[in-house]
Amino acid sequence: MGSQNKQSELPTDKEAKNPSYSETIKTEVVCPNDTNPMGILQGGRLVQWMDIAAAVCAQTHADGICVTASIDAVRFYHSAKVGDILTIKARITRAFTTSMEIRVEAFVRSVYNPTPRSLSTAYFTFVAIDEQAKKRTVPPVIAESEEDKHNYNLAALRKEKNSTPQ
Ligand SMILES: CC(C)(COP(=O)(O)OP(=O)(O)OC[C@H]1O[C@@H](n2cnc3c(N)ncnc32)[C@H](O)[C@@H]1OP(=O)(O)O)[C@@H](O)C(=O)NCCC(=O)NCCS
Repeated sequence: MGSQNKQSELPTDKEAKNPSYSETIKTEVVCPNDTNPMGILQGGRLVQWMDIAAAVCAQTHADGICVTASIDAVRFYHSAKVGDILTIKARITRAFTTSMEIRVEAFVRSVYNPTPRSLSTAYFTFVAIDEQAKKRTVPPVIAESEEDKHNYNLAALRKEKNSTPQ
């Protein structure tokens, strides 16, 4: 199962890019190897798929290799079972200096019920690195929609909160 970038809108500015440019959609079918003995998708496997979609998104925005710096609290709203179809959407909310926040939402549907349900949402932070594994700066994000602008503003609050010693 592959991850796809829409890349429907090429960046108009060499530096800044809009979130649509790097939006990544990954589709998976839950197989027996992904589940517990009850046939329910394991949470760790879902997080792995979400991490891959987020990495493709971050690396497309940054034009280079990125590493996962953190994953915020992950909640699972529903179960997914063998044969269910998962759609994982990764969209950048904001780029800072060397880091980027990616919002990842997973949806589940069955072949018998095409209405998708939200399975999980999480925020991933990636840091861009160069060939020597040194941190490097990333292009800014130009928020497009009202939702993008909302997430852009909240990203700064999340970064501040995560940087504050607990
Ligand atoms: C992530 C990593 C590159 C950060 O390096 P560092 O020298 O500690 O980073 P700094 O403290 O200078 O922070 C660099 C940026 O990362 C952000 N960052 C660092 N740790 C973070 C964390 N735990 N959560 C969110 N952001 C984080 C900082 O806010 C900063 O962002 P900015 O430059 O956009 O302002 C480094 O810790 C690392 O390589 N970790 C391992 C990554 C990895 O292998 N991931 C795969 C999972 S095993």
